[in-house]
Amino acid sequence: MTPDARRTRYPGPIAEAAKHPHGLVEQGFASDEALAEILHRYPADLIDINLYDYDAEGQVLLKTGDKGDLTGEQLLAAIQGGRLWVNLRNAEAGCPDLWAAAMGEFRRIEAAYPGMRAVKNAGQLIISSPVARVPYHFDAAGVILFHLRGRKRLFVYPGDERHLPEIAMEKVVARQTTEEIPYALAFEQDAQVFDLEPGEALTWPFYAPHRVENLDKFCVSLSMDFQTWPSRFRNGALYTNAVIRSRGGRPRFTEAMSTPELAARWAASLALKRIGALDDQIANIQREFTPDASVADGARPIQA
Ligand SMILES: [Fe+2]
Repeated sequence: MTPDARRTRYPGPIAEAAKHPHGLVEQGFASDEALAEILHRYPADLIDINLYDYDAEGQVLLKTGDKGDLTGEQLLAAIQGGRLWVNLRNAEAGCPDLWAAAMGEFRRIEAAYPGMRAVKNAGQLIISSPVARVPYHFDAAGVILFHLRGRKRLFVYPGDERHLPEIAMEKVVARQTTEEIPYALAFEQDAQVFDLEPGEALTWPFYAPHRVENLDKFCVSLSMDFQTWPSRFRNGALYTNAVIRSRGGRPRFTEAMSTPELAARWAASLALKRIGALDDQIANIQREFTPDASVADGARPIQA
């Protein structure tokens, strides 16, 4: 591959999005029975229940739900019949059998990318309605999306300043906004499109913006994100830049920084986080609905 074929301005072992086969489907992790059981016992504070709406310009409006005292079966029914996107965070602890198998798949895929060495892996099990769509966003990590059930379409965009402005990245990394990075319908002509079937995994360059549309089938995926030392350095530098910018400074973008500079800004970020230099602005979002299979979208509004 020529350097020009890279779909991101950041260095890293993954130059462009690619599919990889995986063997997690045959092991029964995504059956209705297994999912109902997982949803039932999963700690409520590790469950995100999201309902996304979009306007004509493709701009998103997010509502969040609360599991309340639903059983796992009831929540599963609301997802299968509704319009919900449910994330089970800390899947490494919450779904240990699935996670152990997925880490085996990860090591095999990692070996296909020279120089890629993950120092920390984490994940979320994503259980979502047939018509659910995830808005345009980026993850401050490498990602491998293991698709387990249903069909979904991934749109992956270039990681350049137009599609991924660094000032917006800083705000997301520093948890200063619930907004994602800016999106415009004109970006669609720059997307690479991948349809995922069960047994396929997709990975893409670190930080590359992406969005997801389910293709009329109830979907289950394990999204595994991972840090390398270079991604840790860059995330720390983005955080430090966010602090400097919040105090009126004008730091240079991380893409222009050398590795020692990035490492120094990462070290600074550890100290800044310790003293609470920036408040977490998204820790306490108000929950607006309870999942309910018997109502529109699978979401019953919570009365104020
Ligand atoms: Fe993502």
